[in-house]
Amino acid sequence: MDAPWYILLCVVPAVLLYNWWRDPLNRIPTVGPSAPLLSYIGAYRFFVDARDMLQEGYEKYKGSTFKVPMFDRWLVVVNGRTLIEELRRLDDDKVSALKGAEVIMKTQYTLGESDDQYHVGIIRETLTRSLVTVLPDVMDEIARAFDEYLPMDGDKWTEVDSMSVMPRIVARASNRVFVGLPHCRNLQYLDLAINFTFDVMKGTIILNLTPAFLRSWVARQFLPTTKTKHLMGEILSPLIEERRQLKSKNGDNWADKPNDMLMWLIDEAEGNDARVNNLVMKMLIVNFGAIHTSSNSVTHALYQLAAEPQYIQPLREEVEAVVASKGWTKTALTNMWKLDSFMKESQRVNGISSTSMTRLALKDLHLSDGTFIPAGSVITAAATATHSDDELYPNAAEFDPFRFSRLREAGDALKHQYISTSAEYIVFGHGKHACPGRFFAANELKAMLAYVVLKYDVKFKHEGVRPENKWFAAGIVPDPTARVLFRRRQT
Ligand SMILES: *[C@@H]1O[C@H](CO)[C@@H](O)[C@H](O)[C@H]1NC(C)=O
Repeated sequence: MDAPWYILLCVVPAVLLYNWWRDPLNRIPTVGPSAPLLSYIGAYRFFVDARDMLQEGYEKYKGSTFKVPMFDRWLVVVNGRTLIEELRRLDDDKVSALKGAEVIMKTQYTLGESDDQYHVGIIRETLTRSLVTVLPDVMDEIARAFDEYLPMDGDKWTEVDSMSVMPRIVARASNRVFVGLPHCRNLQYLDLAINFTFDVMKGTIILNLTPAFLRSWVARQFLPTTKTKHLMGEILSPLIEERRQLKSKNGDNWADKPNDMLMWLIDEAEGNDARVNNLVMKMLIVNFGAIHTSSNSVTHALYQLAAEPQYIQPLREEVEAVVASKGWTKTALTNMWKLDSFMKESQRVNGISSTSMTRLALKDLHLSDGTFIPAGSVITAAATATHSDDELYPNAAEFDPFRFSRLREAGDALKHQYISTSAEYIVFGHGKHACPGRFFAANELKAMLAYVVLKYDVKFKHEGVRPENKWFAAGIVPDPTARVLFRRRQT
């Protein structure tokens, strides 16, 4: 005879409890409930209230480790200089940054196969090495894009929806060096790059709320990334073919050889990577990496400037003085310490993610605080909480735009520049997996902000009030409903 069904009522909870008790992650303290099933309540809380949970863990377990629940797994969070440095030093055979992003962002469903990362080297090395040459073009594109997307009506204040305008300006400026002219001004191309970016972000949120077995179906049904890829292919394929023909005719170098991302990818791709579809996908991935992060970051900075317009004048004076002697060049941007500090401080106070340095443990790990982390766990560092720590940043809650330029003037000119990472500044991550595009992005962002202070006055309707950021789990987004008032510069 079959066992009576109600035996299940005893067996299922017993199995759950047994597994829970045996789980080594159980020894890591939890913020929120940790018991089976109850942890889903914690996961819901993390989705809507990650800020408070991470802050609570940071304060309670300072210099040590805690965990927070997500719907499909635990997130192990490390705190403090020692553990952040330990996380940075872990070898690639012990932890994977790429798999960490996959697990947290579900990028395998939106960005596709991720095994070959040759584009990362191109971004980190070739793009960075080419900055002196390519930045004047990018800065030219920034000026044109602002003039076009923010036409000012006489001297009147005009409301600007930064969260929809900035992605356009960033996309145009970045694509001046990704595909060059004329495609960087092709509206359909730009639309596709921007739509793809937002679809991937939407995908991250939706797929994190979807059970694993439904994810690939949901991605196919609800995320138009396949269609975007197809349409992008129609634009880029002829260009790729044309460049390949020139290459086979002229050898590796010829007089007008394009100096852009697409050409670098074509030059480097081998085997499967060299297929047109895969090159198109890489271009979309590079666009995703550039557009989402930079447009959010410039909007954060713009909101700060509009809330505290008294900082426009000192920035303006610096930008004008430097441009007068160095022109509109990379050297000029390097010499704008106040502007550099403003961007760095803006990112410290309003980053785009409350976690950073996310890794998937490939092997069992023992941390120096005694924490045991089993293979398969996801580890991350508490970024916002670190950046808000008064012990690391005196008056951390205050936006102090020239905090870092003062430190640089006082002696440490390199350590406190925008692109430098440290265990106290992990906006770009830290160590060899730190954001490879940050040298390009920092220059682009500074050029955008410099252009804003040179050409416009900005403010909010209610001066001094910065609209609250929106949080989606660990992600931070500037309030998309806020409107910045712009007018042509008056003085
Ligand atoms: C981009 O998305 C918008 C809004 O969803 C849509 O109207 C537009 O057609 C899309 N553009 C392209 C080129 O697919």
